[in-house]
Amino acid sequence: MIDFGYREVAPEEKTRLVGRVFSSVAAKYDLMNDLMSLGIHRLWKRHFVASCGIRPGDRLLDLAGGTGDIARLARAAGADVTVADINREMLSVGRARADDEGLVKGLGWFQVNAEALPFSASSFDHVTIAFGLRNVSFRDRALADMQRVLKPGGRVHILEFSKVGLPALARLYDTWSFQVMPRLGQRIAGDADSYQYLAESIRRFPDQETLADLMRAAGFERVNWHNLSGGICAIHRAAKA
Ligand SMILES: C[S@@+](CC[C@H](N)C(=O)[O-])C[C@H]1O[C@@H](n2cnc3c(N)ncnc32)[C@H](O)[C@@H]1O
Repeated sequence: MIDFGYREVAPEEKTRLVGRVFSSVAAKYDLMNDLMSLGIHRLWKRHFVASCGIRPGDRLLDLAGGTGDIARLARAAGADVTVADINREMLSVGRARADDEGLVKGLGWFQVNAEALPFSASSFDHVTIAFGLRNVSFRDRALADMQRVLKPGGRVHILEFSKVGLPALARLYDTWSFQVMPRLGQRIAGDADSYQYLAESIRRFPDQETLADLMRAAGFERVNWHNLSGGICAIHRAAKA
């Protein structure tokens, strides 16, 4: 059994429930991100991509790419981007946005499970995953497959919610997460449960050190991390030997 928010479910059941969450919220996903984070998720994502060390022409796989925020930023930095996500609705919102912006060249969209990537070994310079790993049932399999598809010397970059250090900030953040976010979810997306899941899944996700250990266990080298906004998020990076 594994965590789906505060519930324990079978891994296949988590995959199904996570699918239901993102199919339900896809149309309002971007608006909800702006409202819930007061726009700050854009700064986190910009910083995340700007510090990936992308060189023009690098091949980048954006896993759990959803509506394509990371992909668009990476494309603007000159990467040749492959977006992979398990959810058809999230991908179609992302693809429609990219088409509206005239972003077609250098951007491919694939419906793919991060636990079983259909890409050749040693084919990417970077793998990014933003706010995605938390939702994956078998994180060890996903990390192992990220390692497989990276070229030797290629780098993985993980942006994820993490553990807040300051007790006062943690209390404020808990109130926001459990009192405000599900209500906003109900009002804007007609779905409180998915945003309750979001708040719970963040608390169940491994903290900074534990995620770094999982990355080492998957075989990554030079694992390092730093916090954003007092640990609300963290960026973990590592290299394939
Ligand atoms: C919170 S969204 C993040 C989207 C985007 N990366 C962003 O930062 O806005 C999480 C995404 O993970 C995707 N996802 C969940 N489980 C997955 C899996 N096993 N394989 C690939 N994508 C998955 C969901 O479909 C969803 O689009």
